[in-house]
Amino acid sequence: MNILAITGAGLSVGSGLPTYRGAQGRYTAIEAEYGMPVEKIVSVDTLNNRPELLWKHWLNMHAHYAQATPSIGHFALKRLSEAANEYMEVTQNVDGLSLKTGIDPRNVIELHGSAQRYVCQKCGFHHQLGLTSDMIIPPRCYRCRDPENAFIRPDVVMFGENVDENDMNRAIDYAMKVDLVIVTGTTLAFLYLIAILAAAVEAGAKVIYIDPEADREHPMFYTAPDHEKLINATTAIRSTADEALCKLVPALIEGDVAALAEFGL
Ligand SMILES: NC(=O)c1ccc[n+]([C@@H]2O[C@H](COP(=O)([O-])OP(=O)(O)OC[C@H]3O[C@@H](n4cnc5c(N)ncnc54)[C@H](O)[C@@H]3O)[C@@H](O)[C@H]2O)c1
Ligand SMILES: [Zn+2]
Repeated sequence: MNILAITGAGLSVGSGLPTYRGAQGRYTAIEAEYGMPVEKIVSVDTLNNRPELLWKHWLNMHAHYAQATPSIGHFALKRLSEAANEYMEVTQNVDGLSLKTGIDPRNVIELHGSAQRYVCQKCGFHHQLGLTSDMIIPPRCYRCRDPENAFIRPDVVMFGENVDENDMNRAIDYAMKVDLVIVTGTTLAFLYLIAILAAAVEAGAKVIYIDPEADREHPMFYTAPDHEKLINATTAIRSTADEALCKLVPALIEGDVAALAEFGL
C-alpha cells in the first residue's frame, strides 16, 4: 500500500505538547495572555513590527518542544513507513518529533518548518541557536554588518506567509498515487491541506480521520470541489492518535481484516 499521513498538533499531545485548538487547546489562554489572537502573534506582521512579542511566545512554545520525545503514535507511523510500499508524512508540526523517531527524513515533509532551524531575516544565514528563557530577544545576526537591524527568526511558516511551493508540489504529486490517507491530530484549518486530501481521494484513496473531535462531515471538507466524494471516502475515528495508531498500524501490517473493518477498510 502507498500511504500518506497528514498530521497536526494533536499527534504530539501524547508527548506532552499543547495544541492551539481542540478541547484542551491553549488558544484561549494565549489569546487572554497577549490580548490578541494566536494568528496575530505568530504572524509575519508581528515578526516584522513587534519581533520581541513573537519571540516571547516562541520561547514559551520552544521550551515545551525542546524537552519532548516522540510518542507511541509517532513511533507507530515510523513503523508503518518501513512496512508500507511507499510512505510520506506531511506534518504541520514544527516540534521535530516525527524526525526524532529516526524515520527516513525523505519520508517527512515539515510543511510549516521546524523549531530546530533559525535563519537571519536579512542575509538568510542559518544559525545554531541554543534558546534560553533569559536570552535577549529578538536575537541578532552576527554575520550582518548592522546587527541592530538584522533579526534572526524561527524557520517556520508564520500566518500570512505561504508554505513552500516545492513542499506543496511534492505533497500533491505523492497524494495522487496513494491508497490510504491517515489524518490525525489536526483541525484541518488550512485550505492547502484539503487540496492534498482532495488530490488523494480524486485518485481513489480512502481517508481515516483520527481525532477526539473527528467528524466525517468536517466543515473544511465542503471547500473541496467534490466534497461528497471526500466525505464518502472518509471514516472518522474519535480517538487519540496514540490509541488509534497502535491498533491501526499493526492491523495494516498484518492485514488483520476484522481490525481493519473498524477503520472502514
Ligand atoms: N507540536 C507542534 O509542533 C505544534 C503545537 C501547537 C501548534 N502548532 C502549529 O499550530 C498550527 C495548528 O494546527 P493543527 O491543526 O496542527 O493543530 P490545532 O491545534 O489546530 O488542532 C489540534 C487538533 O488535535 C486534536 N487532538 C487533541 N488531542 C489529540 C490527541 N491526543 N490525539 C489526536 N488528536 C488530538 C484536537 O481535537 C484538534 O483537532 C499548525 O500550523 C502548527 O504548525 C504546532
Ligand atoms: Zn544576517
